[in-house]
Order: sequence, then structure tokens, then C-alpha cells
Amino acid sequence: MNTSEEYQKYQDLLKAMAYHNHRYHVLDAPVISDAEYDRLVATLREIELAHPDWVDATSPSRRVNGQVQEKFVKVKHPAAILSLANAFNPDDVKAWFERILKLDARVAHSAFVVEPKIDGLTVVLHYENGVFSHGATRGDGQVGEDVSANLRTIRSIPLRIPVDELAGPVPLELVVRGEAYIPVAAFDKLNQELQERGEKTYLNPRNTAAGSLRQLDASLTASRPLTILTYDIVSSSQETPATQWGLLEYLRSMGFPVTDLAKKFSILDAAIMYCQQIGAARDSIPFEIDGMVIKLDDLRLAKDLGISGKDPRGAIALKFPAREVSTKLLEIRVNVGRTGVLTPYAVLEAVEVGGVVVRQATLHNFGYIAEKDIRPGDRVMIKRAGDVIPYVIGPILDARTGVEIAYVPPRVCPSCGSKVENLPGEVAWFCLNPACPAQLVRNIEHFVSREAMDITGLGTRVVEQLVSAGLIHDSADLYELSNEQLMLLDGFAEKKVENLLAAIADSKERPLARLIIALGIHGVGEVAAADLARKFGSIHKLAAATPAELMTLEGIGPNIAASIQIWFQHEKNSSLIDRFIRLGIDPVESGHSANAYQPFQGKTFVVTGTLPTLGREEVKEYIQQRGGKVSDSVSAKTDYLVLGEAPGSKLEKARSLYIQVIDESSLRKMAGEE
Ligand code: IVH
Repeated sequence: MNTSEEYQKYQDLLKAMAYHNHRYHVLDAPVISDAEYDRLVATLREIELAHPDWVDATSPSRRVNGQVQEKFVKVKHPAAILSLANAFNPDDVKAWFERILKLDARVAHSAFVVEPKIDGLTVVLHYENGVFSHGATRGDGQVGEDVSANLRTIRSIPLRIPVDELAGPVPLELVVRGEAYIPVAAFDKLNQELQERGEKTYLNPRNTAAGSLRQLDASLTASRPLTILTYDIVSSSQETPATQWGLLEYLRSMGFPVTDLAKKFSILDAAIMYCQQIGAARDSIPFEIDGMVIKLDDLRLAKDLGISGKDPRGAIALKFPAREVSTKLLEIRVNVGRTGVLTPYAVLEAVEVGGVVVRQATLHNFGYIAEKDIRPGDRVMIKRAGDVIPYVIGPILDARTGVEIAYVPPRVCPSCGSKVENLPGEVAWFCLNPACPAQLVRNIEHFVSREAMDITGLGTRVVEQLVSAGLIHDSADLYELSNEQLMLLDGFAEKKVENLLAAIADSKERPLARLIIALGIHGVGEVAAADLARKFGSIHKLAAATPAELMTLEGIGPNIAASIQIWFQHEKNSSLIDRFIRLGIDPVESGHSANAYQPFQGKTFVVTGTLPTLGREEVKEYIQQRGGKVSDSVSAKTDYLVLGEAPGSKLEKARSLYIQVIDESSLRKMAGEE
């Protein structure tokens, strides 16, 4: 290929790449695949390597040039980079309108353009002959800093204005104003990546954008997801559109990114309504906005109205209530939830956010506090957006005085003083004390629920009554409630007490799986409980199981296995289990034997009459725990009839079948007890 042919190819390639760059980064509508674009990049690199003298400033290869600057050079803006007056409600906007209407009657007939007020930072972009020459920050409005190398890395900033597509000629000199920002989703992703790498996360998109643009090393800027939207022409060597609406269209035609949320209105009330509508949908906009800007569409009129201080009279910002404010973090307190999870929260110096006075905010969890290094006494940013509970975003490090000390989570439960546990795979810390007052009502409710021990007559209100009367301190206490105690409770009469006690006694018969559910071990639900019951057969065997044994079950991974082990190791829990067994709550899964010694193995018993010490249910358990079967009626298969006081017809039947009749004391002897 001869040189001029190849040079032409290079020029065409630059144009093609500028086109595809624009389609991708400005219009969000690429027409080639990433792979195809990569091939163009490779070809470009090849040519540029062979002809370094051809490389010009608009080449995509120049977006990041690897040079690190020592400081930023000052740039004088061609015209003052003005600010905006603020309105905080529709009345402020109407007052603005009345003011300028008095100054100039033409205001009555001007339309309005409403645009989102992007919460980023102003950038001033200079083009010479359609080619990006340099760009600056706002600075003091007169003089800014030259951040050209950083701006070049922003793909949505065109490096050249497409001559061919433009209706008129490209202006020799053009200075465009826009807002640089980081889209919310990109910001969240960035923070997530930082968090995964164990690095400090950023407070908010605006500060991050500002910090990124003021990097001396442009390769750092290149790694931040900055983008821009343009909305103004600061100066031009050519005549520019006479209306704001036309100006936005003009910018768009030159390849600049322009918001598609801009709208034109002829009536102020409609413009205000649009502002409110966008305000309500604020969270669904891909970038942060702190308000809407209402601009007179007639730019000549706007110019004639002049400026007041630093604010042009022809436009006004209708600000949304701030969602982020700073305040002092007075104290970190810890709440114990009904599931035993410890949750830290911030006690704040009262501050107004979005029209509400906030005194407390969530700190999510202890990991969050550590990650953000949030310390009591810090000045912190808090956010209250939409329906979200106010939360602490992070400390303002520059406001540290040096006396703030890093926060250490409590080692004991603030409610009951038990040692707290951090279950593997969970960020949260838990108080596993089943008798922890913060959790008691909820634990009992769970214990008696239908999936668990299924005790009817123990609704939340009754449980609360029992707890506050001091009658129960853990679930085992339920089984020691007496008639007299219950009779003293509000709303309890003979029948109700009787029913409740019967329901409680009845629940002693629940199968093992239900008892396991009732324990409320983190991560152990119905399915796991059934599997555990089947595999281990009794509560003490489960308590003694090693993680390796537990993990032989499908659905029980290392985290649940650890959770089970930690639960049973907790001193309060092991004594609870001991009490259950003493109280006769020791279900055995069929096919398993609870005791190694099974004296009644293979024998069937029938009980009749009242025994001296064992209740009806208790004797049943006594026999079952020792491997025997209990039947309700006497038949040829019955081995023993256990006889008590005032027997029924079963005795006669047993005698007629020559079945051996024994009393409680012989039963105990057979069990090897006496
Ligand atoms: S117009 C003469 N339009 O808000 C032009 N400003 O609080 C005056 N901003 O410094 C600015 N989005 O950085 C205008 N659509 C928008 C804007 C916008 C964001 C920023 C801009 C300005 C600040 C004023």
C-alpha cells in the first residue's frame, strides 16, 4: 500500500471510530459488536506504530497517554461560567417569573425549557476547528484548571465534531459547557469492586466524579466511569441557536451527549409540574439530580435580562430536598432483634433531611462499620432517600479531630450479657441465648407454632403475658406451668387453664423433627429438621454429632453444620436440652433407639388405671424410650398390662387372654431401675 493510500485509510479509520464511539458512548446504540470495534483498534494501532508522525490528537489511542502531570495549568474561561439561583418550591419559581416579567414584558411570551440539574461538576470543553483542544474545570467561574488529559479519557466527550453530518460549517472556535458525573449504577459497581478488593469505598457519585477529574495521573481518571451531559455554549465563533431548545438540538447534532429528559413548555405551571414529576421519579433516573433547571427558551431575552450576582436571571434551579446531609455521630448503639441478631445503629445529632428530622440511622451491620471505618464522634454523611430508612453513608475523614477511636463491636449481648457468636457465612453477630429477654417472646412463639411444637392457645398475647409475669424464662418453663400460676393471669379461667395445660402436655409427644424445628437453630428449617431427625434419631445424638456427620446430609453445608454445633455448644442451650429430657420431652425417631439399653425392645404394653407416679403420657414415653410399644387396647399381641388404681375393662380382657399384669414398680424393675 502506498503511503498516501494508507494515510487515507488511517483518516477513514479515525472517522469510523469516532462514529462508532459516538454511537456507543453517546447514543447508547452501537451498530457494530465490541469484537468488531476491537479489530478497528488493532488496525489503528498497527498503522500508528508504523507511522508515529501521523498520529493526531483525535485518535482514540490518545484518550489515555500515560503522562502524569505535576500540577494543573490555569485556563481563563472565554466568558464567565455562571451559576444558578435556587428555588425550593413552586412559589419561589413563580416569584422568579414575576420578577423577570417586571423587567421585560417579552417574558410573558417566552417558552420554558426544563432540564434535569445533574449533580456532578461543570466542565468547559474547547474545540478548535471541530477538534477537542483542551478542557477545564469551573474554578472560580473566571479561571479554571486545565484537566484536558483527564477529559480526553471520557469516552462520551467527542474528540472531533463530525463535519460531514453537520448542517452548517464547524465553528472555528467553540466552547461547550457540560456536567461531568458518574452514573449511579456505575458508581455502585465501582464501590462493590472496591469492597471486594478490601479497599475504601466512595461516599457518593458527585465527590467521586470531582476527585476523579482532578487526578494528576490521567490513567486513574480513565479507570473511573465518568461521563458527561452538555447543556450550554459558552462561546462560539459562529452564530448559535436563538433558543435553548434549538441549542440542545445543535449540541446533539455535533455529537455531544444531551439529556433526553429536557422538555419544552409554554406555561410555567406545566413546567413546574414536570419538575415535580421527575422529582417523584428521581430514583429511576440513571444519574443523581439535585433538582430541575427551568430556563427561558428565548436565549436573546435571557441574555438581555442579564445576571444578578453570579446567577443569570433567565434561568432558575428548582431544588429537590437534599437527601444527603452531614451530622455528628454521637454514639453507636446495638439493638438485639427478635431473632437474636445484633444490629448496630447510629445515634445522631438531630438533622433535617428531606423535610424530616432524623436522630437515628442504620449502620447496617458490624462489617459495614469496619469497612467504612465509622467512629463514634465522627462527622458523618447520612442519606434518606425515598422510603429507605436513613443510613450512615460514611465518615467525613477531613473532619476528623484525631480523638475518634475505631469502633469495636460488643462481645456480649447488650440485652442479656451472653457471649455473642458470629456464625460462619453470615456477617451478623447473634445472641444465641434462648432466654435472652430481647428474643424470648419471639422464641416462645416459634417454639409453640404449628410447624414446631404446635401448642394451641399460646398466641402472642398470652406469650407476652407469661413472659411479663415472669412465669417463663425459656421454652422448657412452659412444661412446668401450674394451674395456680395460670389462674392468676388476666383473662384466664378454669377451662382455659385446663385446655392450655392439656395442649402443653400433649406437645410432649411431638416427633423429633418438630422439636428440632422448635429449637430455632439458625439455618435449620423444616426440611433440614426432618433429615436430621431421620439420621440422628434423638436429640442427644444430634447434639453430639460432628460437623462431618452433619454434612453427610444433603442440604447441610459447612455453615449450617457449624450453626448446629454452635447452638448445642452454647451452655444455656445444653441445659435447656437436659431439662427437656428430664421433663420427658425426648422424642425418638422410629427405627432409632434413644437409649443404648432397650429392655422393652419388641414388647407391647397396654396401660390401665392411674399409676402412682407416672402420668398417662409419661408412662407412654417411659416405655417408648426403652424400646417398647404402647397400644390402647388389649389383644393377643399384648405382652404386658400395666395396672394402676381404678382400672377399666382392659384388666378383664387381659386376664382372659392370660396376659401378664404388672404394676408401675415392676415396670421400673424390668427397666432395671429398682
Ligand atoms: S445551567 C448559565 N443546566 O448546576 C448556565 N446547570 O447550581 C448556568 N447544572 O454550575 C447553568 N445541570 O454545574 C445548568 N441542566 C443544567 C445543569 C446545570 C447541572 C449545574 C451546573 C451549575 C450548577 C448550578
